[in-house]
Amino acid sequence: DRTVKIAPSILSADFADFGREIRAVEDQGADWIHVDVMDGHFVPNLTFGPPAVKAFRKHVKTVMDVHLMIAPVDPYIEAYAEAGADILTAHVEAGAHTHRTLQAIRAAGMKAGVALNPGTPAQAIEHLLDLTDLVCVMTVNPGFGGQKFIDMTSKVRTLRQMIGDRPVHIEIDGGVDPTTAPLVVEAGADVLVAGSAVFRGGSVENPAPYGENIRAI
Ligand code: DX5
Ligand code: ZN
Repeated sequence: DRTVKIAPSILSADFADFGREIRAVEDQGADWIHVDVMDGHFVPNLTFGPPAVKAFRKHVKTVMDVHLMIAPVDPYIEAYAEAGADILTAHVEAGAHTHRTLQAIRAAGMKAGVALNPGTPAQAIEHLLDLTDLVCVMTVNPGFGGQKFIDMTSKVRTLRQMIGDRPVHIEIDGGVDPTTAPLVVEAGADVLVAGSAVFRGGSVENPAPYGENIRAI
């Protein structure tokens, strides 16, 4: 069902070859490119910052979906706008003023996303839905690729009901594979991030498995 978008996470790509990895996975049918920014503080891992994201932009032809796992967020919003993010997602747990953060993301010309850790209930963002283009439901504790899916199906169902007829995506991030994807799609998700399930078995020299993996989700 291609109304459901697949957003490969380049966290599972070859870190020495991001440009070719992005092009390979887009050639193989990726709808969006998901970029995981980690600060070693909000989450116990470090990835990359605005200069790297700006370099990725030159290779992304679809949509660059930037997931910030950093705190604070507000001082960096302008840098990610300049880096060319189409969607910028901040965690509701990252600060006391998510309302202000989402307004600032939109004011900088990007679509605004809000992410929820597994322990955070849907109600934490009920007041933010008019400021949000995307709700990212974490189905792992953020920080690493390749972790086991945590079932958040009932949270997804609650969110879809809360969203009503607003044009808000529900994105699922963590442990998405051909077994878990149908559960969350049935509950109302329409964007699936997948890292290990997309990149496994392939490489830039042999990208066909990426396409097979995308179609299998
Ligand atoms: C986790 C990241 C995810 C991660 C997903 O903190 O936000 O985007 O790359 O990886 P998989 O699909 O391997 O769980
Ligand atoms: Zn992510």
